[in-house]
Amino acid sequence: MTARTKIVAGNWKMNKTVAEAVSLVEELTKELAGFSGCEVILCPPFTALTSVAKLLHSSPRIQLGAQNLHPALQGAFTGEISAAMLREAGCRFVIVGHSERRRYFGETDAFLREKLLAAVAAGLRPIFCVGEELPDRESGRWPAHLRSQIQGVLHGLPVDVLSAIVLAYEPIWAIGTGRNARPEQAQEAHALLRKEIERLHGTAVAARMCIQYGGSVTPQNARELLSQPDVDGLLVGGASLNARSFTSILLSVQ
Ligand code: G3P
Repeated sequence: MTARTKIVAGNWKMNKTVAEAVSLVEELTKELAGFSGCEVILCPPFTALTSVAKLLHSSPRIQLGAQNLHPALQGAFTGEISAAMLREAGCRFVIVGHSERRRYFGETDAFLREKLLAAVAAGLRPIFCVGEELPDRESGRWPAHLRSQIQGVLHGLPVDVLSAIVLAYEPIWAIGTGRNARPEQAQEAHALLRKEIERLHGTAVAARMCIQYGGSVTPQNARELLSQPDVDGLLVGGASLNARSFTSILLSVQ
């Protein structure tokens, strides 16, 4: 079996002023001095990226990610940020296709595909999110939904793009609800996603791909989720906003 490095990311969403971000990162870098259990990524809002990047200079194990990008190189896209701008700000990762972007900003599969291509072309690793709504989970349609999200966006992408992607399974019913997927539910979904990647892009790409779980991850459930063979990391929302809870999640990585 391929050994995959675990990757745990904190998605701060629209939280933290620059001053608050700086104080959280100062605490985290202190708590995590010497930590080498996994790759750690922090995804603050755009306004805090450069300040956080400066603080992370001396913590090579913690990397910077953004929460979104626009696929165009530059131009008349008011309010948007390009991949090159994110690189310049010190980002190595960028979240693409979060369910909140799909739901509130109408992001389509075709647009997400463009974003993935633009991100990788600029040297960013995308964290590409998929996940089903509650009715799809309850009716048993979730496997078909996940397959169609993977096919719709990843089908036919070049292997260098695929190899850069971190996949995140975030069941929408688990996001911010306090109701995480049970470890066996996460494992079943991750195994299905890996199979689908294998069908589209072959065994080697699928075996190497890091698949994170996201949705109400806490210090209490992180270890059990991570103990599943196909759960290669976590994408943490609320619990990443506090140094103590995020550190304790990171310390769950074996
Ligand atoms: O991207 C992470 C996120 O959607 C999960 O949020 O608050 O349920 O951990 P939360």
